[in-house]
Amino acid sequence: MIPPGFIQDLLARVDLVDVVGRYVQLKRAGQNYVGLCPFHGEKTPSFTVSPSKQFFHCFGCGAHGTAIGFLMEHRGLGFVEAVRELAQQVGLAVPEAPAATARASGRAQALTDLLQRAAEFYRQQLKASTAAIGYLKGRGLIGVTAARFGLGYAPPEWTALAAAFDRYDDPQLVEAGLVIESEGKRYDRFRGRVMFPIRNRRGAVLGFGARALDGSEPKYLNSPETPVYRKGRELYGVFEAQEAIRRRRRVIVCEGYLDVIQLAQAGFEESVAALGTAVTPAHVTELLRLSSHVIFAFDGDAAGRKAARRALEAALPAVGDTARIDFVLLPEGEDPDSLVRAHGAAAFEAELSRALPLSRWFIRALAEGKDLATAEGRAALLAEAKPLAAAMPAGALRLQLLHELAEAARSAPAEVEQLFGLKPWRRLPEPRRAPARPPAETADLKQHILQRLLAYPELAHEFADAVAEEFSADGPKIDRQVLEVVQAACSSSNPSSGLLQELLAESEFADVYRQAATVSLLADADLEATRLELAGAFAKLELRRVNGELEALAAQPQPDAARLEKIRRLAERRARLMGSALSDGIKAAP
Ligand code: UTP
Ligand code: MN
Repeated sequence: MIPPGFIQDLLARVDLVDVVGRYVQLKRAGQNYVGLCPFHGEKTPSFTVSPSKQFFHCFGCGAHGTAIGFLMEHRGLGFVEAVRELAQQVGLAVPEAPAATARASGRAQALTDLLQRAAEFYRQQLKASTAAIGYLKGRGLIGVTAARFGLGYAPPEWTALAAAFDRYDDPQLVEAGLVIESEGKRYDRFRGRVMFPIRNRRGAVLGFGARALDGSEPKYLNSPETPVYRKGRELYGVFEAQEAIRRRRRVIVCEGYLDVIQLAQAGFEESVAALGTAVTPAHVTELLRLSSHVIFAFDGDAAGRKAARRALEAALPAVGDTARIDFVLLPEGEDPDSLVRAHGAAAFEAELSRALPLSRWFIRALAEGKDLATAEGRAALLAEAKPLAAAMPAGALRLQLLHELAEAARSAPAEVEQLFGLKPWRRLPEPRRAPARPPAETADLKQHILQRLLAYPELAHEFADAVAEEFSADGPKIDRQVLEVVQAACSSSNPSSGLLQELLAESEFADVYRQAATVSLLADADLEATRLELAGAFAKLELRRVNGELEALAAQPQPDAARLEKIRRLAERRARLMGSALSDGIKAAP
């Protein structure tokens, strides 16, 4: 772990324009610099670098980040490596990592090095095996595709890997899942199989899938779980697909190794697969990090239907209001591989266009096998839907889904909500703040404040008191977001937008912050104008709150002396706020 304080120092010293400028030709455009995006092919520049905010954003493909992120993506470095490289450029020494984590990451590195070497060995073996080459050709793959995915061949021998490693008795070969040890004997796990290296986003080999050439069982043999390979997290093909995912702004998820490869060869390079296990919530989170549009394409068989159901269940807790997750079940008996080979790329694209959004798929999947013409069928539908709906985060999508469900179950949405015990739109009344449900404009004001603070975190300090007054840690999301941002900004003496994004990278709201900060690249105001704007927005918020409190007090019966005194003080405060708002030329809120 690199201490966050160090990241702050580092980003305060590094100039992003310098860092990016080494790889991309940049031209000044107003307050920002623009150039051709290095992360996707383009002819007109939509790649924007903000020197004041210290982050870049591509309006074409959505690539986004700080100097650290740029080096990670562009050079394929890990976080720590990118930090090291930047530190070296500005002459800072990276604080030593605590020994335990250094040992753990050193051990992981040793395993991926071994796996990399094994992958290299298998690749060489493929060149020498007419049987394996014949098999791949027979499945319609061309050499370029095999090379792209680093395919290899494990020869049908017990200790072939002895030729690739100095010490066949190295315990790490067992730990990496390459060698099996049993009753004092050691032998290769993978024998006589086509090898599919499984790589992470940075290209490190984590494990293998291995397909039998003949009919022997199991059809696919996979690496066991190891310290570097966690089946419920990794996606096959993500290394090869990531650039296309950004460019095409979608990710296709299918079931098999050969589906991914065949799809890539047919032009769907944005394809990945969840491997040897069902799709997990961790997979969905990772997929949504890769793209806000995820399309699940499942095989048209019983296993595919079951996998689709598991994926739906995994997606529900992870899906936010801005994500789009679509599902399609391929025609009976087809998988993406067979479909593309038999009918071509257009046929697969046509299938994708039939994909249903999650909310519709949800009803479809649950309605299967039930007779919705009967009350019993509709009741069963609701009963099955209840735990699934409850797993979704409260929000616009859940609301829409409940509406569709209500319609399918011939009920009123409010009845369904009540049946499910969900009350998404009624916030608990806050004791002090009068209006239980803020008028839309208050939410807008708060959004505006969030966006401004993200663009100009140097102002956070000035408004920290006002923020503490108007935003509550038990309040709605937007309140928690503003509080989190102000706290992060106040932790640094020289905060920039980019720094905030690094500091808040692990926040559940990281994407929200990123999007909000990006808005400011287009509509750039200067610091002074922003300061005035913020002062006005906070005055409006306070005025609203004071008005609310006054109304609440006035509505209570029989004012006693204490309450009258309070009313008097609030009315005074209100008069002052209206006065200052008017004198600042800021339109006072009603
Ligand atoms: P399928 O049985 O659908 O095979 O398994 P497939 O992908 O169409 O394979 P081909 O076309 O016959 O070569 C889908 C996925 O499930 C995992 C693999 O990841 C496979 O790609 N699987 C399947 C295993 O892990 N082990 C098995 O024995 C079978
Ligand atoms: Mn197949």
